[in-house]
Parts: sequence; C-alpha cells; structure tokens
Amino acid sequence: MSELSVNHLLGIKYLNKQDIQLIFETADHFKEVINRSIKKVPSLRDITIANLFFENSTRTKLSFELAEKRLSADVINFSASQSSVKKGETLIDTVNNILSMKVDMVVIRHPNAGAGVFLSKHIKASIINAGDGTHEHPTQALLDTYSIRERLGEVKGKNVVIVGDILHSRVALSNIFALQLQGADVMVCGPKTLIPKYIEKLGVKVETNLRTALNWCDVANMLRVQNERMDISYFPSTREYTQQFGVNKELLESLDKEIIIMHPGPINRGVEITSDVADSNQAIILNQVENGVAIRMAVIYLLASKIK
Ligand code: CP
Repeated sequence: MSELSVNHLLGIKYLNKQDIQLIFETADHFKEVINRSIKKVPSLRDITIANLFFENSTRTKLSFELAEKRLSADVINFSASQSSVKKGETLIDTVNNILSMKVDMVVIRHPNAGAGVFLSKHIKASIINAGDGTHEHPTQALLDTYSIRERLGEVKGKNVVIVGDILHSRVALSNIFALQLQGADVMVCGPKTLIPKYIEKLGVKVETNLRTALNWCDVANMLRVQNERMDISYFPSTREYTQQFGVNKELLESLDKEIIIMHPGPINRGVEITSDVADSNQAIILNQVENGVAIRMAVIYLLASKIK
C-alpha cells in the first residue's frame, strides 16, 4: 500500500493498521532526512499549509511548522488570540477567508471536540486535527507509538498503561486507538473520578493502584492533570494526587523490571512525575518530541499526495 485510506487526519479511529504502518515507514525515511546536514527536501514546494491554533500549544505548533518547512511547503500561521475571532468571526468564515488565499491544507487545534470533522465537511482542503477538545490528538498518538516501536522494537504484544486524567485527555483516547490497532494491551490508571465510565467498553483494563499498574506494564504514559478543562474538583488535593498517582524514582526502583516512561507534555514537574524520573534514561520524553517532526512530515506528505 502506498497511499492512506483517508483524505484527512481527523482521528486515529478513522485509520486502519496499514495506514499506521505506512505513516511509520514514511516517518523512518524522514527521520533519516532530518538527521542529515541538509535537513530539507523539496517535496511540497507547491503546497500551502495554514496552521490554525485556537488553543495554546508549544510542541504541536512548533513541530508542525518545522515539519512543513522541512518539506518546503509555504506556511501561514494563525493564532486565535491575535485574530478577528476576538471580534466575533465564526470558524467557517475565518477558515474560508484563509482558504481564499489558496491554501491546500489546514492544521487545526480547537477547544471543541469535532472541530476538524466539521471543517472537513464544509471546506475544500485537507484537514489535520492537531487536538480537538477532549476528543483526539492523532499525531500525538502516532508519535507516541512510533517512539515505543523505536525503543522496544515493536508495539505488538506490549503492555502500556496511561496514567492520570483520562477523562479530560485527547491524548488518552487517540493512544488507546493507536495502541490497540498495533496489537498492544492497554490499561488506564488514575482516580476513579478521572476515568470515564465508557472506557471498559473500549477493551482497556482499568486500575486505580499505580504500583499494580506499573508492575503490569512495559511502558507508562504519564498524563498531566488538565485543570483548564475542569469546572469542579476531581480529587481532594494536588498533594494527595501526587502521593497516589505521581511517579518517582523510588517507586520505579522498587518495581520488578525497568519500564519506559513517556509524557506528551507539558510536564507538571513534582505533580505527575518527579524531575529525577523526567530527566532519567528511563524517560523518552524528548525522543517523543524529536519523533513528532518526522511523524508530522510523514502525515503531511502522505495527505498532500492525495490532493487532486
Ligand atoms: N503534547 C502537546 O500537545 O503539547 P502542546 O499542547 O504544547 O502542543
């Protein structure tokens, strides 16, 4: 197979196993390219991409922009906080105005779940979801599972636990879909109040004891508590959360085996992860960020090749 089954990347749930395989093989090639002294290829010289960020971002925004520039695409950046959205302009009007400038592809981060799907039905451009509310963050899950493959050889047969605020996390849902498509066994671990009721229907294990979860897994993906998405308290205090669901060196050293620690960022040091773990060789957090550029180059390249 040499092309994706989709014209947009709206979520992992729309991909199949072969799509992920193709994205990874293409990313392998681009990872080699970006480690050369000349890191740029002319592949997308005739493509224009708009990065529309209606929510804050560091990693995803910079990683997409770098990926687009490495592919020689023309890039325009839009940040909602500095735009006419503040004057009441709708999403469709905003995007249609941008598209009238002859844009081929839109990368969108938006606080509302389904923003990418909505756009894909109303505009003629290839859409990449860079995170939509608490729904999906597909390129994050692709780079996360690519990083597991890189470190452990394959994803198939591995036990992966996602720890923390599952309820408000788009990273969790996309990772569950991506890990299962690749044959991993998935567990979620966190306070009961931060684990959605439907989660077991997705075929994942649920555990509320962190030590039990860490003893089971090969990889632990630590999530941040997403206070900005909470309108009530879900646990008594941050201190108590850290005591029960924070990972530290002492806990890791007391396990039967050495596990891999991941984090999508941004990290809250001293809350879900201590600095001695985040900065240790067990953590592949910066490898994830590095791999994000190759994965996004692969996704953009493969979707661009489908633009008529
Ligand atoms: N992982 C991630 O999405 O980080 P940003 O919010 O900084 O893009």
